[in-house]
Amino acid sequence: MIDVLMALWYALVVIPAAASPQLPPYSGPKPPWPYRGYSRFPAVWFGQNRSGLDSATEMALEAKHQIVGWGWQQNYNTVGKYTANHTKGTNGTYYQQETSLAQMASRFAAYLEFSPPSNARQVQATFVYRHMEVAEYYWSLAAAAFHDPRNAEMFLHSEDGKVCWKTNDMTGPFWNFSNARAMDWFVEEIGGELTREADINAVFFDETDWLYCGPVFNNCSHKTVTADQYHHKIEMMRRLAVKLNAAGIWPIYSTFNGFQGTEYRNCPFPFDEYYRTLADVGWFRFYEWGIGNTKPEGGPGSQAQILQALRESELGLPVIVHAYLDKDAKPPSTPRTLPLALFLLAQTDYWYLGISSGWNDKDWSWWPEYDQHYGKPLGRATQIMDPPGWRREFEGCTVTVTADLKNASIRFHSREHVQLLV
Ligand SMILES: *[C@@H]1O[C@H](CO)[C@@H](O)[C@H](O)[C@H]1NC(C)=O
Ligand SMILES: *[C@@H]1O[C@H](CO)[C@@H](O)[C@H](O)[C@H]1NC(C)=O
Ligand SMILES: *[C@@H]1O[C@H](CO)[C@@H](O)[C@H](O)[C@H]1NC(C)=O
Ligand SMILES: *[C@@H]1O[C@H](CO)[C@@H](O)[C@H](O)[C@H]1NC(C)=O
Ligand SMILES: *[C@@H]1O[C@H](CO)[C@@H](O)[C@H](O)[C@H]1NC(C)=O
Ligand SMILES: *[C@@H]1O[C@H](CO)[C@@H](O)[C@H](O)[C@H]1NC(C)=O
Repeated sequence: MIDVLMALWYALVVIPAAASPQLPPYSGPKPPWPYRGYSRFPAVWFGQNRSGLDSATEMALEAKHQIVGWGWQQNYNTVGKYTANHTKGTNGTYYQQETSLAQMASRFAAYLEFSPPSNARQVQATFVYRHMEVAEYYWSLAAAAFHDPRNAEMFLHSEDGKVCWKTNDMTGPFWNFSNARAMDWFVEEIGGELTREADINAVFFDETDWLYCGPVFNNCSHKTVTADQYHHKIEMMRRLAVKLNAAGIWPIYSTFNGFQGTEYRNCPFPFDEYYRTLADVGWFRFYEWGIGNTKPEGGPGSQAQILQALRESELGLPVIVHAYLDKDAKPPSTPRTLPLALFLLAQTDYWYLGISSGWNDKDWSWWPEYDQHYGKPLGRATQIMDPPGWRREFEGCTVTVTADLKNASIRFHSREHVQLLV
């Protein structure tokens, strides 16, 4: 019985790697800040305050994280609230969500400049949010694009000429990146505006490929969504990265795709092309749902394959992982142990992790695990047999994850590593 399990365990892991074609190592420029993720935990904070600008107390918490940013809900209750009246496009209100986020980024920059210094403060990069699939009405530049009837060709249309609209929340039409003017608009107008923002180092771009890889929330037939649009979008993302990099800004691209052999969702072609096209420009891959799957998975709320993440780590691609708390943690594990251990299996330079229960300020915390000292990895994650799973050695600890990726342990070598003296 054990032998069969072990053979299966090896086969599961070895076959996909062998089937995958050669990919070039990642050779893009490094972000313009040094990686400090081995001496202090490379934590990410990605919340938002729906009522307005964050308090000084909240900013003190945010500033403990190495990367900090705010999402589309920033100021939502005060300026971005939408009702049926506002969601039809014809009468859409210009909410200028760009401004809400820029205000938050500059308030945070002022906080960092004028509040007393603290050793707990680790922040190195600040980001704001943009959507990359739908021209949502609450971004003034996206709204300006679709409110001008001369731009109709920049959006997807049904066979009978009706615009394809995001229907789950009625926020706007889908960009058609097979259209050259749509590509130019995104790079020049949306990218151009970002290069003129003073207080950001990165930009989170939501849904680089959800439309192509995930369930389609629109009122057109799926036939309108083509692989050609995805190919062109990736070209656009390369141009956008080059433009932003020149201004010292790093895009964070949220994707649902996996390499050939470690597929994640049902994308029209594997991540290989996405990766190759962007392998020599500066960007982060972003995982919205963690990296805890053993197999391809398609359902909403699913996680990407660990093998995908391990491969990206080996290639040297910068990655930001968001993971939810583990609801099935059994003591002595905490709800953070498993997502943290999965991250540590793959961590390399410019890898960051944020663990939260959601996307509002209250869903984020400074977890005690962030104060522990893991140190540098002493090698790659290796497969182990007893019990079947993964292990990776660090200067400060040994990380073990079971083969089903459901249970993990982080064993510290000495007491000094358990609690960093801050
Ligand atoms: C959210 O914004 C409001 C209005 O500025 C402020 O009173 C509140 O303290 C903020 N909440 C947090 C968690 O920063
Ligand atoms: C739109 O707003 C007006 C004025 O507030 C309101 O009377 C009307 O019911 C709203 N229409 C819809 C469809 O929500
Ligand atoms: C748009 O707003 C105007 C002025 O408030 C109103 O008269 C008109 O009915 C609205 N149109 C739609 C389609 O909601
Ligand atoms: C997308 O744009 C291309 C180029 O303008 C056009 O040929 C194609 O019909 C458009 N597709 C849809 C679904 O609107
Ligand atoms: C989709 O919804 C939008 C907004 O209500 C509408 O303008 C458009 O005509 C619809 N498209 C189709 C194909 O039904
Ligand atoms: C699995 O969880 C238990 C706690 O229920 C823990 O004691 C054990 O070390 C874990 N096993 C591994 C391989 O991480």
